[in-house]
Order: sequence, then structure tokens, then C-alpha cells
Amino acid sequence: MKVLHVAGARPNFMKVAPVLRALGGRGVANVLVHTGQHYDPQMSAAFFEDLGLPEPDVHLEVGSGSHAAQTARVMERIEPVLESERPDLTIVVGDVNSTMASAIVCAKLRLPVAHVEAGLRSFDRTMPEEINRVLTDQISDLLFTTSPEAEANLLREGIAAERIRFVGNPMIDSLERHAARARSSGALERFGLEESGYVLVTLHRPSNVDDPTTLRGILEALNDVARRAPVVFPVHPRTVRMLQAHGLEGSVRLGGDRAAPGAVTCVEPLGYVDFLRLMSCARAVLTDSGGIQEETTILGVPCLTLRWNTERPITVEMGTNRLVGTDPEAIRKEALAALDGGRRPARRPPLWDGKAGERIAEAVVGWAR
Ligand code: UD1
Repeated sequence: MKVLHVAGARPNFMKVAPVLRALGGRGVANVLVHTGQHYDPQMSAAFFEDLGLPEPDVHLEVGSGSHAAQTARVMERIEPVLESERPDLTIVVGDVNSTMASAIVCAKLRLPVAHVEAGLRSFDRTMPEEINRVLTDQISDLLFTTSPEAEANLLREGIAAERIRFVGNPMIDSLERHAARARSSGALERFGLEESGYVLVTLHRPSNVDDPTTLRGILEALNDVARRAPVVFPVHPRTVRMLQAHGLEGSVRLGGDRAAPGAVTCVEPLGYVDFLRLMSCARAVLTDSGGIQEETTILGVPCLTLRWNTERPITVEMGTNRLVGTDPEAIRKEALAALDGGRRPARRPPLWDGKAGERIAEAVVGWAR
């Protein structure tokens, strides 16, 4: 049996790794295609290395562009690869443009496609990822879900129950696998941080960083938080561009290497293991990422999500996540409360146990039979 895996952007890599490994362990021939949506070494190669992912068999080198241009480039370039490889199954993960683009091409070539992390819904169609999720799910033959409400979302959209498999969360497989290595990472020392003594921030959603008023408000709140505890902010390249475009570089310490008290210290995007270390030891994490809401739930670290909705409600119901929105006063208040309150008890969502990759491999082999 031959399975083709599509990986495009940073949040895909930690989901692809456990699935690829589990299928390889069952004698399946894996073909790994990197679309090149993310291409900076720190957004891509560093993750391949940390996660032990093999070199991609095919690299499409699509790079950045408008949504239409990027999606079209993936479609155009993956089509001949799919035609020559003729995989028995293609697996796409998550909700990035590469995911949707590849799934559409498979569907039109009448090649079976499976979606890992199916059924997540923010019900906010201003989010490009929501469009990618809905469309990918509609045309996938097999839908692997990470949480019970995802199945309900899919059934509501008319997807047949027999196509859905609740397998748990492969992102947590990667987290468990690399937890010990993260403990020996020198990231805290490198940035001059103390365990439980700092706040970790990530921001990259267009709704937060493209609008100067929203971004300015968030930075004001972060600066207030920094007066109480060091704030470390590994910055996504898109956010760096926006800080510069909006003339907001002065609100942060760009290019910092040690966290300075009283300032928001921006550092380069980190690799998987170093970031895991910073997340595990943070007093609180402030983010607009999807995956970080899940990882902090398992780590038991308070997570404040700077968005008005989440496609991962289980992290709020069972985990440490709180939806704070983007109002500066609310961010300030919730962040200071998190600094005072410390860790809150969290439960582990069902099947977030480090074995999702194995379940997916099992289901794929069963489906092929
Ligand atoms: C993409 C995903 C988003 C995911 C995020 C994680 C879509 C629609 N969005 O958003 O769901 O949460 O990845 O990072 O697929 N850039 C670089 N170097 C890189 C990659 C990007 O400099 O390696 C810059 C470019 O200026 C580019 C911008 O970041 O234009 C945005 O990149 P893009 O891949 O379009 O979207 P992300 O914001 O990264």
C-alpha cells in the first residue's frame, strides 16, 4: 500500500510525523510531499529536524502569495505528482491552504483522500482556515476527528457517519514523544527566563496582526503585563512584517536575545523542542494559535486565547484555555489574574493519549482492506 502525505506549513509537521511513523511501522510505503507554503528554515527545516521527519520526497516550493495564488500553485504543482504516484490514499492535515488545495486535486482525480483533524469549526467564515476546513471535509473520503464535537459538526453538514473515525489528537503524540527532550532544552537559560516566571506570547492571525488598531491595542496590553513579568514573544514572519508596516516596532524589543524586564521581547520563531520547553514552563501563554490551545491543555499551563471564537471548544471545557478576545482591557485583566492565580486543574480530553497516530494507521489499513 502507498500513502502520500501532504505537509505545507508549520502546524502541519507535528501532526504528519506520528501518522507517517505509524504507517511506516505497518509496512506502508510513505511518500512525503512538502508544498513549501512555509519555507523559512525556522518555520520548516527546524521542525523536520526536531520531529525526526524524513526529507520530503517531493518539494513543490510554492512559497507565499495571496490565498488564490498560493492555493492555485499547490493545485497546479501537486497534480502531476499525484498522477505519477497514484497513491492508494492521500492524507492531508489541519486547515492551511495546502490542505484544501491538495484535497481538491485528489477529489478531481478521483484519488481517495483522508483528512486528519476533520470537523473542527469556529463557525467564523471570515477566517481563511474555516473555509479550508469546510471544503476539505466535504470532499474527503475518510475523516479523522480529534474530539467528539467534531463528529457532530460533520454529521450536521451531511457527511456520512461511516466516513468518520474518532482517533484522538496526533499533535499530542508529538508532544508526548518529545517531552523528555524538551526538558533538556537550554531555551530558558538562553533567554534568561525562570520556570513559571514569564509569559509566552504568539500572534499571527490576520484578524489580529493585519489591523493596526487591533495590533496596537494588544501590544499595549502586553506591555502592561510585561511590567509584572517578562514577556517573550517568538514572532512569526508575517507579524514582523506587520509590526514594521504599521510603525509599531517601537512597542516591542525586536531582535532580543534575553528577556528584558518591563518590555515585550521579540525573539526569532523557535524550533519545536525549544518552543515546547518555553510553553511547559510559562506562567501563562497568550496566543491566537489553534495548536497551542491544545498543547497547553495537556501541559496544564493557563492559556488565554486572543480571539473571539475557537474551533477547539474542548480546550475551554476540559482544558486550561480561556477565550479572552482582543479588547486590551480584558487581555490585561485576564493576564494579570493568570499571573496571580497560577495553574488551574485540567482534564485530558478523550484519546489525547499519544496513540492517535497508531489509531489512524490502524484505520487506514482497515479501510484499505
Ligand atoms: C498559515 C496558515 C495558518 C497557520 C499558520 C501557522 C493558511 C490560510 N494559514 O498562516 O492557518 O496557523 O500558517 O504559521 O494556510 N512567511 C515567511 N516565511 C515563511 C512563511 C511565511 O516569511 O516560511 C510570511 C510571508 O510574508 C507570507 C506570510 O508570512 O506572506 C504569511 O504566510 P502564509 O503561509 O500565507 O500564512 P500564515 O500566516 O503563515
